[in-house]
Amino acid sequence: MKYRVFAANWKMNIGPLEAREYLRSFFSAGQLPRGCGVWFFPPAVSVEAVARGVAGHDNIAVGVQDIYWEPKGAFTGAISGAIASQAGARMTLVGHSERRHVFGETDEQTGKKVAAALAADLSPLLCVGETLAQREAGETIAVISRQLEAALAGRAAGQSRVTVAYEPVWAIGTGRNATPQDAADVHKEIRAWLAKHAPGIVRILYGGSVNLKNVAQLLAEPELDGVLVGGASLDPHGWAELVRTGAA
Ligand code: 13P
Repeated sequence: MKYRVFAANWKMNIGPLEAREYLRSFFSAGQLPRGCGVWFFPPAVSVEAVARGVAGHDNIAVGVQDIYWEPKGAFTGAISGAIASQAGARMTLVGHSERRHVFGETDEQTGKKVAAALAADLSPLLCVGETLAQREAGETIAVISRQLEAALAGRAAGQSRVTVAYEPVWAIGTGRNATPQDAADVHKEIRAWLAKHAPGIVRILYGGSVNLKNVAQLLAEPELDGVLVGGASLDPHGWAELVRTGAA
């Protein structure tokens, strides 16, 4: 059976008190299936609560949603990889489309964050994806190649710790997921780019309106090594069911 990753991006939801309650409900839904990993990306202030709550579960990991690239200093409001790590994070999202499009993060900045994450011993989950306008203009592959290049070029060391997530911006939070074929087509292109420029990276997740109804169909596509889920990860029972359905 193929190993699959189920990554939950809680975005700006679920504080530390709610996180404890969430995990109680999540675990009460029963054993996780074998052959899969579950990764939680809570808000930074909830990381410690989640890390404590999942301690002892080897197939569950915790990460932050973003880090700043400087290791420490006068950067009010920012957190470094080392600080995230102290709180229990083992991973970090980098370049999520909301960082890029709501907060104006550039390709160059995502590159610095990948480097900072690796330096702090955090595994980066690098998000790439095109907007609807870019897709309609036939620029999907060019945009994604540029994002990959900016984030990964010259970062051979630690490459094997990076996972890529393909998240088309038009599919995020819209209820409009890419079809399994759409996703697989882009995953193939990403895989070809990685084979050439960053051969240490082997895992590609799909994200964008993944839910209980479409997860099995998406993961039936062998190009997808897992899913990165926003809205459908916020309910603990629903998330446990999604993991079980996708891993089956
Ligand atoms: P939704 O699953 O809510 O579309 O969000 C996807 C996402 O952005 C995960 O990082």
